Amino acid sequence: MKPIEIKENIYWVGGIDWDLRNFHGYLTHRGSTYNAYLIVDEKITLIDTVKHYHFDEMMERIAAVINPGKIDYIVSNHVEMDHSGGLPALMEKIGSRATIFTSPNGEKGLLAHYRRKWNFKVVQSGDILSLGKRSLHFVLTPMVHWPDNMVTYLPEDRILFSNDAFGQHLASSERFDDEYPFSIILEEATKYYANIVLPYSKQVNKTLEAVSAFALDVIAPSHGIVWRSSVKQILAQYQKWAKNETEPKALIIYDSMWGSTEKIAYAIAKGFENKGIKVSLVNLQFNHISDIMTMVLTTKYICVGSPTLNNNMLPTVAAFLIYLKGLAPINRVGIAFGSYGWGGQSIGLIEDILKSCNWQVWEQIKNQYLPTDDFLKTTTEKIERLLTN
Ligand code: FEO
Repeated sequence: MKPIEIKENIYWVGGIDWDLRNFHGYLTHRGSTYNAYLIVDEKITLIDTVKHYHFDEMMERIAAVINPGKIDYIVSNHVEMDHSGGLPALMEKIGSRATIFTSPNGEKGLLAHYRRKWNFKVVQSGDILSLGKRSLHFVLTPMVHWPDNMVTYLPEDRILFSNDAFGQHLASSERFDDEYPFSIILEEATKYYANIVLPYSKQVNKTLEAVSAFALDVIAPSHGIVWRSSVKQILAQYQKWAKNETEPKALIIYDSMWGSTEKIAYAIAKGFENKGIKVSLVNLQFNHISDIMTMVLTTKYICVGSPTLNNNMLPTVAAFLIYLKGLAPINRVGIAFGSYGWGGQSIGLIEDILKSCNWQVWEQIKNQYLPTDDFLKTTTEKIERLLTN
């Protein structure tokens, strides 16, 4: 397990989780990495650690550069255990001699998780730590992704250690954005934003403002690939995503019991197509909610359909809507639709959730039993009309 030098005397020493397929409910098709970085200066400094089961891998990489016992400083940018999980074993190994620099909430979080009184030094935005030839500048970025988050800037090498921000769940031996297919990196960065960062877009805007003062050659996140050739592109993407900017596309998300709700989904799709709007049909039987959220991130029109089951919607649709609401996309147009036998509560319940997202919600589309050809034609025309108005 070799370290990878990202700039002179600054090494990636993280772990590669090739097998990870579930990150708290997010389907990680391509695994992930936990990125820790080692800075060799007068003060030897480690930025973040790794998930606990990658500890040995991280130590092997560190040991290929220096004796780990020589680590003076540890910067904990984020308490979540995918980045702090290696800390207890590390502190045990190096005799707890190192100072841990973290935010006020970082100290509270680390104490709550590990119940050990390590040598903490709490930092605030604007604090600077000298390492010798280099310095570290701290910026607190609460709620990107937990209350404790911060980022660390190294001006002498123009590197931003951004922790979760700008990350991607992507396992690879390649470490840099110019060594790996860019479309895959961007796809995974999009998925990461949609499923992890989206609810904190206001805080992302503040973070982007704070880091705009920094000259950047490299953004080194805590997951996935390190940005060095596409720094401007990923910053521009974050500007768009944080503003909830969408494209005039439509997404029709549904499940069906006997095919009637599906027929309505296709009739709605036809209406969008007839108006020249690109549309994707997403059956919840075959698509994971985290992949659907990636599509929602850039889509303006979101239609959600379910038949009625036991006075409610199908559980697949309910699970998606709970997930969607939590991730809080805004500035969308929503439509609820579905078929029913009697009751018909599912459509109103879907509509209530779309309204609770503060979206513009168009009139619902509801049909009893099997939709006739006339109903489907009227549905298509209705969508065309709504798009014209
Ligand atoms: Fe990658 Fe919020 O932890």
